[in-house]
Amino acid sequence: MKRILTYGLFSLFISFATAQTKQTPVYLDDSKDIELRVEDALKRMTLEEKIAFIHAQSKFSSPGVPRLGIPELWMSDGPHGVRMEIEWDSWKHAGWTNDSCTAFPALTALAATFNPELSLLYGQSLGAEARYRKKDVILGPGVNIYRMPLNGRNFEYMGEDPFLASKMVVPYIIGVQENGVAACLKHYALNNQEVWRGHIDVEVSDRALYEIYLPAFKAGVEKAGVWSIMGSYNKYRGQWCSHNERLVNDILKGEWKFDGVFMTDWGSAHDTKEAALYGLDLEMGSWTNGLNQTKDFAYDNYYMAKPYLTMLRNGEVPMSTLDEKVRRMLRLAFRTNMNRNRPFGSFATPEHAEAARLIGEESIVLMKNTNNFFPIAKDRYNKILVVGENATRPLTIGGGSSELKVKKEVSPLEGLIDKYGADKISYTMGYGSGRSSYGKVIPSPYNADSLRIKALELAKDADVVLFIGGLNKSHEQDCEAGDRVTYNLDFNQNELIEELLKINKNIGVILISGNAVATSWLNKVPALIQSWYLGSSAGYATANVISGEVNPSGKLPFSFPKRLEDNGAIAGGSLSYPGDSIRQVYTEDILVGYRWHDTKKIPAQFAFGYGLSYTTFEFGKASTDQKEYGKDDTIKISVSITNKGSVDGAEVVQIYASQRKPSLQRPAKELKGFQKVFLKAGESKVVEIAILVKDLAYFDDKAHTWVVENDKFTLHCGASSADIRSSVVVNVK
Ligand code: BGC
Repeated sequence: MKRILTYGLFSLFISFATAQTKQTPVYLDDSKDIELRVEDALKRMTLEEKIAFIHAQSKFSSPGVPRLGIPELWMSDGPHGVRMEIEWDSWKHAGWTNDSCTAFPALTALAATFNPELSLLYGQSLGAEARYRKKDVILGPGVNIYRMPLNGRNFEYMGEDPFLASKMVVPYIIGVQENGVAACLKHYALNNQEVWRGHIDVEVSDRALYEIYLPAFKAGVEKAGVWSIMGSYNKYRGQWCSHNERLVNDILKGEWKFDGVFMTDWGSAHDTKEAALYGLDLEMGSWTNGLNQTKDFAYDNYYMAKPYLTMLRNGEVPMSTLDEKVRRMLRLAFRTNMNRNRPFGSFATPEHAEAARLIGEESIVLMKNTNNFFPIAKDRYNKILVVGENATRPLTIGGGSSELKVKKEVSPLEGLIDKYGADKISYTMGYGSGRSSYGKVIPSPYNADSLRIKALELAKDADVVLFIGGLNKSHEQDCEAGDRVTYNLDFNQNELIEELLKINKNIGVILISGNAVATSWLNKVPALIQSWYLGSSAGYATANVISGEVNPSGKLPFSFPKRLEDNGAIAGGSLSYPGDSIRQVYTEDILVGYRWHDTKKIPAQFAFGYGLSYTTFEFGKASTDQKEYGKDDTIKISVSITNKGSVDGAEVVQIYASQRKPSLQRPAKELKGFQKVFLKAGESKVVEIAILVKDLAYFDDKAHTWVVENDKFTLHCGASSADIRSSVVVNVK
């Protein structure tokens, strides 16, 4: 009865709204397929409605079409959880009390799992949280390639390898979108540093663009069918990336046939005509203060608002440019907030905290482990001293737009106390980092000497010391809108570790960061773990790995150079990084990350793909199903792996390819396949990895096409990019 009544009132309202047309309301008729509905809705919209539809009405929403019942489109950051509510017209937190989410591990951590199944779980869980919070678009994932270790936003991305990032990003997107929530792949493209991100003009070869910087975006479009993409702040070929003819029209919408919405980053639109012509569909964030910066309603003055209307009316740009944008926005609406079959989502659930824990556990990388320093069984020591600010500092706060307000964040210290009991654990900060405020670093209020002296005193008496430090989410650490200024750890952490070692040699270092750092004390410490920003369940994941309840299986998604200068982008000098403030040239070209280390024979401190376990794995000799392949074939490579130790564990079998006699320079080797394999103690399995011959191609920039040459290719099978166990040569014709 209630339903009929509501529907009756509804139809009364509709009959006013559609009095002239007498059509079924756009939001009710979902019998037709999306393209028909798009065309139908488009026809009903007025010019003014179309214009309003393609730009913001608030910080994180666009207005829909109220007359036709097309709802507002709500967006939220992204990419590690659903951000707290932000005020309608400013960046301030709105102060809601029902928006404390689950924080999932940062995307570097997800990449370090080398496990696409966890990426699906990540996307599904995050998508459910976004849906519950009534978000139609989640602003992530980020897949800008890790070019050098100073980029303040590397923690939000999936590492230095385009193959890994492509494999990991696809399930994330699929998982999010299963919820009727759009993923928004960002930042397209070439936003590989934060310094001068708002204007730097990136010069990069087509080979590097196609082979390194674009593949993960392409996979998101072609393999995951992503519904929206965000442009970047920087320029490419002299044109802003958010309305860049080549990147957006030619490549994204032309070559890859992207049919979704291409939106700005917040405030990255700069020109109405370019926005009209070069593929921008939705303008967000152009002015922070939407209501009273000018006398008018400021959103009306966006590049794609009144100025666009005027241009259209004057015939300066064709009406078809607008219709194309509106079509894409309507398609997004029908896929998300007008899809009446989408699930309702769920928020801050125990299941999501569990998902965060699982992903966190599989991401942690064991880097060094002399004399079985780790694992530390529960009864091994009585006095465990934990030193370091990151043991307690909330690391879901800060970092820029990926900041989160969490329902619960278990710190490493809490996780350790939960595991070993409060009587065994003592804690002291050791150093203080301060915090950032509006792009400035506010020094720590604590006295550095007293913190240090206290730690040294306590270390005398401890059976074991766990140093938990690294970077944090403040300005000039791992944080948006600035890069790190040093490759070293800040706040005298190196000195503190050295001094602690003089007093107690039994020290395990646990670094938490989203970037490689210099490890000057490496030879002196018995053990090192690389951990990440692990979100809500950080402490549980960390303690489970330290105690050995979980055997670490994470692998580095980027190289750790010994010295900053050993990184290819940095080796190119200041024009390469950070540029001269106007332009920069990617001088290392296709030799990004391990491609540089391997080809130039400059070994990294820790190589891409590296990570130890509490057990050891024996690799058999890799073999292929054939020795000769055609260009459309799939190579099946198999290798037997045996867990030789006494605990269960997982290894990531990695396949790198190198071409024997390429007609142009190619990297020494490149990742072309991987498989994570779980093995019980003593168990053996044959792992089969399929490699597409077409993935062995290079991008021929003159012919503008991918080429696989007739040649011999060596497929290296190993446990990291620097630990190859056997190789097979195949002939491609
Ligand atoms: C960031 C984006 C983010 C947007 C909205 C920008 O500053 O670059 O990644 O999604 O703000 O918060």
